[in-house]
Amino acid sequence: TVMNQLLGMHQVEKEISQYFGIKRCIVVAGNSDNQEKVLYEFGDILTDSLDLLLPDGDNIVAVMGGTTMALTAEHMGTLETEKRHNLFVPARGGIGEAMTVQANSVSAVMASKTGGHHRALYVPEQLSLETYNSLLQEPSIQEVLTLIEQSNCVVHSIGRALHMAARRKMSDDEMVMLKQNNAVAESFGYFFDEEGEVVYKIPRIGLQLKDVQKISNVVAIAGGKTKAKAIRAYMKNAPKQTWLITDEAAANEILKGA
Ligand code: G3H
Repeated sequence: TVMNQLLGMHQVEKEISQYFGIKRCIVVAGNSDNQEKVLYEFGDILTDSLDLLLPDGDNIVAVMGGTTMALTAEHMGTLETEKRHNLFVPARGGIGEAMTVQANSVSAVMASKTGGHHRALYVPEQLSLETYNSLLQEPSIQEVLTLIEQSNCVVHSIGRALHMAARRKMSDDEMVMLKQNNAVAESFGYFFDEEGEVVYKIPRIGLQLKDVQKISNVVAIAGGKTKAKAIRAYMKNAPKQTWLITDEAAANEILKGA
């Protein structure tokens, strides 16, 4: 019955949050590997979650990129109230991804869907060290970096290490290194092995992993059976305040290996 299914799902959510020692896990029915509607539902759940998490006053929400984030953003609803105002900023500079899945685009879409505001971070890819350092001195860039530092919420996804490395056109040497270090997961531009230990980091400006630990509201969104291993690896050392939004296919696979 539907009731039994619901109870079963709640049991899975509880088991997952206990297994990782995180604050909360929400599981959506289905498999986002081949059902786009699951991602739309992520949008509803993220809206509800942020509605519970974000306090009244001015909030700064730092967001990462990726296809999960982009599709989730498209299906969000309003979060703005008379008392609560939300500013969306990209958590880190661009990491060689297609325009629509970059953090800048995701934060713009989230702002427009939720009725909030956004600020972009204009730092291109592949810069010489000198250009990079002088860009960092730019007041308009400094301003956004300061906002990122002040964020009280971060929303991000989790990807498969080699898949992400290939998509971001990382070098052959980097690919070899990731394989040798058994990288299985990627998030925030960091690569993790099965134990959730960082094995590599793409140097980029913006939020660093140690900053995420200190942010009171952290939401991770990732689903699909193919991502189960990556999700499990990253979540092992995820900040304890994390809320994980995932789907049934990933959740069942995660618990199988638990
Ligand atoms: O860092 C994680 C990736 O951005 C996830 O990308 O949602 O396209 O799988 P994806």
